[in-house]
Amino acid sequence: MRRSLTPVGVLLVLALFTDSPCSARGSSHCRSTDSEDMRPHSVTISEFGAVGDGVTLNTKAFQNAIFYLNSFADKGGAKLFVPAGRWLTGSFDLISHLTLWLDKDAVILGSTTSKDWPVIDPLPSYGRGRELPGGRHQSLIYGRNLTDVVITGDNGTIDGQGDIWWRWFRTGNLNYTRPHLVELMNSTEVVISNVTFLNSPFWTIHPVYCSQVAVQNVTILAPLDSPNTDGIDPDCYISTGDDLIAIKSGWDEYGTAYARPSTNIIIHRVIGQTRTSAGITIGSEMSGGVSEVHAENLQFSNSSTGISIKTSPGRGGYVRDIYISDVTLVNVGIAIRFNGHYGEHPDEFYDPNALPTIERITVKDVRGENIKMAGLLEGIEGDNFLNICLSNITLNVTSASPWNCSYIQGYSASVDPEACEPLEEIISREHYSDCYHLTNHLLSSSHQKRSAWLLSQ
Ligand SMILES: *[C@@H]1O[C@H](CO)[C@@H](O)[C@H](O)[C@H]1NC(C)=O
Ligand SMILES: *[C@@H]1O[C@H](CO)[C@@H](O)[C@H](O)[C@H]1NC(C)=O
Ligand SMILES: *[C@@H]1O[C@H](CO)[C@@H](O)[C@H](O)[C@H]1NC(C)=O
Ligand SMILES: *[C@@H]1O[C@H](CO)[C@@H](O)[C@H](O)[C@H]1NC(C)=O
Ligand SMILES: *[C@@H]1O[C@H](CO)[C@@H](O)[C@H](O)[C@H]1NC(C)=O
Ligand SMILES: *[C@@H]1O[C@H](CO)[C@@H](O)[C@H](O)[C@H]1NC(C)=O
Ligand SMILES: *[C@@H]1O[C@H](CO)[C@@H](O)[C@H](O)[C@H]1NC(C)=O
Ligand SMILES: *[C@@H]1O[C@H](CO)[C@@H](O)[C@H](O)[C@H]1NC(C)=O
Ligand SMILES: *[C@@H]1O[C@H](CO)[C@@H](O)[C@H](O)[C@H]1NC(C)=O
Ligand SMILES: *[C@@H]1O[C@H](CO)[C@@H](O)[C@H](O)[C@H]1NC(C)=O
Repeated sequence: MRRSLTPVGVLLVLALFTDSPCSARGSSHCRSTDSEDMRPHSVTISEFGAVGDGVTLNTKAFQNAIFYLNSFADKGGAKLFVPAGRWLTGSFDLISHLTLWLDKDAVILGSTTSKDWPVIDPLPSYGRGRELPGGRHQSLIYGRNLTDVVITGDNGTIDGQGDIWWRWFRTGNLNYTRPHLVELMNSTEVVISNVTFLNSPFWTIHPVYCSQVAVQNVTILAPLDSPNTDGIDPDCYISTGDDLIAIKSGWDEYGTAYARPSTNIIIHRVIGQTRTSAGITIGSEMSGGVSEVHAENLQFSNSSTGISIKTSPGRGGYVRDIYISDVTLVNVGIAIRFNGHYGEHPDEFYDPNALPTIERITVKDVRGENIKMAGLLEGIEGDNFLNICLSNITLNVTSASPWNCSYIQGYSASVDPEACEPLEEIISREHYSDCYHLTNHLLSSSHQKRSAWLLSQ
């Protein structure tokens, strides 16, 4: 595994944006993204009996330390310091007004015993576990109903030791859906920065039903062949990155009923590779709706797909007002992929007539080297994807038929190789407003938005 780790690199360099009075660049005005945040109280995990030998199970020590620190929640909060060492633990819960600080050479190691990852209820917007019916294993680091929680440090590591989980997955020995590495649910003012995440059993960072989430300057690594180790899966109703960044919002009838859209998501400067999946994906779970995703300055290499939107009849919901620009692709199979028939349903109770609405998707300023296919854009018969606008796209493509489009409608300008027939019409003054544009530059426009993310350097 060590061997396969080296080339895996999913490096995400991300930063936050919220409606708080933060400056866009540099977080000097933004208390919540300042890793030197002044928690007046601090304890070290070893004070609670933890042993950093990589063998001793420290779940109780983490739980006790955090229980103790709860008494400082109304006194400016507290910091749990994790020093150098290998700190083996099962799942533990964070609290509000807490900073979990991982020093240089500190490694929090996930237990390789499944019972150390308790089984919790499925997400209401999924109705069941993503992989198996019923509950799901709780993430290693979990939080619910929290305000003001920070996971940061001096590039310490949170290592899920997911290898055992990937093996259980592959050999059919799971009883419940695999755990994420970090999941924060129904929480706000979340900052995750300056840490490295390794070998998540399943998705790596999963904010769900959250607002004001910032993920900045993190490195996420997992073997290229590890199953479903998505980097960041923001699944949050007002905010929030297999896929390096996957934006989701609920699954079929459960997602429709729960109705929490993922919106105002800003992604800035993400560098990475993923062999079998995409750099940025929206869906396939999108039944609660996804809108206003602004992604800029992306560099994806050695990936099967660059930019991807996945959905299916039965999902309902919408994906609209998406703006992706300034993208560099190197050695990528399909630069832009829309899949209207992704399939995968939670159960047989979904409504096959619930058709998703996919509209106002702008992709511009893309350059690609060694691309097999420019676009495989498949909408849904009777449910065309509308106002797909491509501009300033230059791809060095090896396929003789670089575009393959069906059931889509839109416009293009300066696309090489020339866009497919449904997008041939030039973006002109009359239908300029059909396309989704940013009224202001990304960074300044985000000032007016509530609870957005900015992923930035
Ligand atoms: C990350 O670490 C650097 C260097 O210590 C520090 O300047 C910066 O403020 C930290 N950023 C965040 C968001 O924690
Ligand atoms: C979310 O958290 C808030 C307080 O933190 C709580 O009042 C609310 O009931 C929670 N909602 C859910 C669905 O957990
Ligand atoms: C979060 O809030 C919900 C709804 O109020 C409640 O049912 C649940 O027990 C809370 N969970 C935690 C861990 O506080
Ligand atoms: C990113 O993290 C590294 C390691 O913790 C740190 O040296 C660097 O200053 C950080 N960069 C930023 C922009 O925060
Ligand atoms: C943080 O550590 C990881 C591995 O431990 C390394 O790959 C990464 O480059 C480091 N990040 C920074 C910014 O130093
Ligand atoms: C699944 O359940 C079986 C029977 O209880 C148990 O032996 C096995 O260890 C469980 N698998 C996991 C991954 O927990
Ligand atoms: C892409 O893969 C090639 C061949 O495996 C490798 O040499 C190159 O370093 C990879 N590129 C990146 C950016 O990792
Ligand atoms: C086209 O996109 C490239 C980046 O791929 C950018 O450098 C260039 O400025 C863009 N051209 C125009 C006219 O916007
Ligand atoms: C595509 O890349 C190859 C190899 O780098 C180069 O020889 C070729 O001229 C490029 N084609 C175009 C259309 O830029
Ligand atoms: C276009 O894609 C469809 C579906 O993948 C495939 O059946 C068809 O053969 C492709 N057409 C061309 C011309 O490549």
